Amino acid sequence: MNILFLGDVVGKAGRQIVNDKLSLIQNQYEIDFTIVNGENSAHGKGITTKIYKNFKRLNVDVVTLGNHAFSKREIIDHLDECSDLIRPINIEPSDIGKGIIIKKYKDKKIAIINLCGKVFMDSTTSNPIDVMNKILSKLVADIIIVDLHAEATSEKITFFEYFKSKLTAVIGTHTHVQTADERIKDGCAFITDVGMCGAYDSVLGRDIEEVFDLNIRKIPSRFKPAEGPAILCGVIINIDDNTNRAISIKRIQIRP
Ligand code: FE2
Repeated sequence: MNILFLGDVVGKAGRQIVNDKLSLIQNQYEIDFTIVNGENSAHGKGITTKIYKNFKRLNVDVVTLGNHAFSKREIIDHLDECSDLIRPINIEPSDIGKGIIIKKYKDKKIAIINLCGKVFMDSTTSNPIDVMNKILSKLVADIIIVDLHAEATSEKITFFEYFKSKLTAVIGTHTHVQTADERIKDGCAFITDVGMCGAYDSVLGRDIEEVFDLNIRKIPSRFKPAEGPAILCGVIINIDDNTNRAISIKRIQIRP
């Protein structure tokens, strides 16, 4: 089976390119299951119920989040309408929503787990390796995919090396620049960062002048998302139907 994972969708430009290209990608690569990280989809921070429902209309199976999971409060009151939305297990607030979902695809149980890194991440409550060990002690699934939303490349690679024999894929998110280190080891697919779906002419999807305001002019800035044509970044993981192990991981990028 082929699993598509699209990286952090940033604001309107990111949503637009996902709207425009997702079904083409799903058809071209015979995608069976689609995961999208939507943690920056609502004006750069968080997600709304409306945006989640639009992802579902586009045949997205599971939407993952990150450190900005609940930046838009509206989503908190409507989580019962968002059954395929997961948030990192190890961030505050810990009692809202879920961080793991098990979906059925044909005869397979696919578990998708959302975790945050600890290095340079303010809201993370516990080490993702400790959390993952606890999850694995109880989890029963054929295929296990982890969205590791983390800043530090070393933390993501360490996590992959430690768990590679037990997981089907570890996909890094959060840093928005796609890394060229995709690999398969012990039947587990990995990439340090899958990249973003957001405005190409930007700083990680944010308006360049707004970033200059804060970092150079030293004036307050909301880091609003940039506008204009977007880049779409993702990976396609091919999984052996007999062994449930990853065979290949292919990076995709559509640039304006
Ligand atoms: Fe993030």
